Amino acid sequence: MSDKSGIPVKVVPTKPIDGQKPGTSGLRKKVTVFQQEHYLENFVQSSFDALPSESLTGSTLVVSGDGRYLTKPSVAKIVRMAAANGVGKVWVGRGGLMSTPAVSAVIRNRHGGEAYGGFILTASHNPGGPHEDFGIKYNCGNGGPAPEKLTNQIYQNTTKISQYFIADESLKVDIEKLGTSTFLVQHRDSGKFGQFTVEVIDEVEDYLKLLRKIYDFNALSALLRRPDFKFAFDGMHGVAGPYAKRIFVQELGAPESCCLNCDPKEDFGGGHPDPNLTYAHHLVDTMGLGEHSSATAEVPAFGAACDGDADRNMILGARFFVTPSDSVAIIAANAKEAIPYFRSGLKGVARSMPTSAALDRVAEAKGVKCYEVPTGWKFFGNLMDDGRCSLCGEESFGTGSDHVREKDGLWAVLAWLSILAYRNGAKKEGLGDKLAKIAPGLHAGHKHEGGSGKLVIVEEIVKEHWAKYGRNFYTRYDYENVESAKADKVISTLKSKIGEITQVRHFVIDKSDEFSYTDPVDGSISANQGIRFLFSDGSRVIFRLSGTGSSGATIRMYVEQYVAPDAGPEKLHADAAKALEPLVNVALTLSKMKELTGREKPTVIT
Ligand code: G6P
Ligand code: ZN
Repeated sequence: MSDKSGIPVKVVPTKPIDGQKPGTSGLRKKVTVFQQEHYLENFVQSSFDALPSESLTGSTLVVSGDGRYLTKPSVAKIVRMAAANGVGKVWVGRGGLMSTPAVSAVIRNRHGGEAYGGFILTASHNPGGPHEDFGIKYNCGNGGPAPEKLTNQIYQNTTKISQYFIADESLKVDIEKLGTSTFLVQHRDSGKFGQFTVEVIDEVEDYLKLLRKIYDFNALSALLRRPDFKFAFDGMHGVAGPYAKRIFVQELGAPESCCLNCDPKEDFGGGHPDPNLTYAHHLVDTMGLGEHSSATAEVPAFGAACDGDADRNMILGARFFVTPSDSVAIIAANAKEAIPYFRSGLKGVARSMPTSAALDRVAEAKGVKCYEVPTGWKFFGNLMDDGRCSLCGEESFGTGSDHVREKDGLWAVLAWLSILAYRNGAKKEGLGDKLAKIAPGLHAGHKHEGGSGKLVIVEEIVKEHWAKYGRNFYTRYDYENVESAKADKVISTLKSKIGEITQVRHFVIDKSDEFSYTDPVDGSISANQGIRFLFSDGSRVIFRLSGTGSSGATIRMYVEQYVAPDAGPEKLHADAAKALEPLVNVALTLSKMKELTGREKPTVIT
């Protein structure tokens, strides 16, 4: 218990500030924008004003973020504003830190789901620091991002705001220390003093509790303790670090040396905390996939990385990249056997439209429905709340399940570790012989008894998957920071070709359209979700503008080509870039990309 004397509330006059419309994942802007007077306060008050006051009064909220520059002062401000707006209790992760999926877990589960909602301070995978990005989003009681109806109301409020309420500076909490502080704070409307509590909570505990119910920690621990199983995890100096140290090292017994870049930094160590082959270069080098990596040096068997707020993930094997589209398909294929949470089977699965159709093939084989939704995790949330989907993923390095309502990076890493544990122990016979047939040269045909045989590695698991389901070759080209007018021209050029073109070189176009989605749960329609060219051999070329950038436009070009299992190992194991080259050229021709943007090459290829 600290200060018991009453803390007065200030009513601060303010004016609307332009451009506070939340995007795909909340309000994301440059730090310098957030540093404008009243900028954060206007948005937070507008959020409070969009919530029913009878629900907000006396409620519990979570306030935490990914640790980027501006997180701590923002937590302090939001806590004071929550107090002034009648909130009863705020849970803050130690140091103001909590991963996005952990906030979702805390909202849903802590004290039986006591929290009414929460503010997450993050700009996800965007760089941080005084000249980089900051962000804020509101999540509701189901642990998922606020629906559009609510974010529209918040935005409307930002255009009319004239005052905000904030408790006096004497409401101070040391967020570095676990514990509860109670204050008497004046209420904004009644002027009476009421109790307000801030509890600094362990940022990992509740989330860990949930993961224990999902995975077999004994099996995971046995794998991580195998001397021949080396693992490297790259926290990219984001919020994943404390989770990785606690879960992989303390709980599961992996050596501390497996945690790379696991100290959260306000500027992510100057890096771009996005787990892909370009930005996670430290891990890419460690796993022998770097441009200058030696072809013979010993590399870990398994590597993974998470983004700034730990909801994205990248999965690597030794000198081997698993595309996010393959990753979710392979998790789906193995879920029932390898992950206790899915023991009774999958309710259904889902992917975003630009994600490859590898997942569809698994769903078909398992006899479950596969939903195709627009880009954006919120579309999965609806399906999950309605009990239609238990596993989903996106090409943008997002994978998750209905255990929370955000994608979940560490969950995905544990899902892969579970598959590896299962393949190396739980499943005792037959696999060696099968792999020897499918991936000759990779495997000597050992049997796997209790985790003591030759280690089954990521590459084998993926190749076995392709041998069974076929391979969806996949690549994404990103053109970042393109002038908006040029990006619009690319899109209008593509639109003009819808239904007009039937063939490019030897590729025959079956259908072209703009993707539109009708939500099966609430019937809402989301139109204009990307331009698609679908080819007669099952290949697809898709274009859309990113909805998550903070400046300029980002054009995304997605290219996918399916090769059936009977094509044989040589075709199935071909180099993706080479295999896709002809189709990439078709995509570049269709969009007149080089001509219209002046870009010879994309900024990032994944
Ligand atoms: C965020 C969203 C994802 C989305 C991704 C890319 O991470 O949560 O659902 O796939 O951004 O979106 P973009 O609009 O930039 O392609
Ligand atoms: Zn993220």
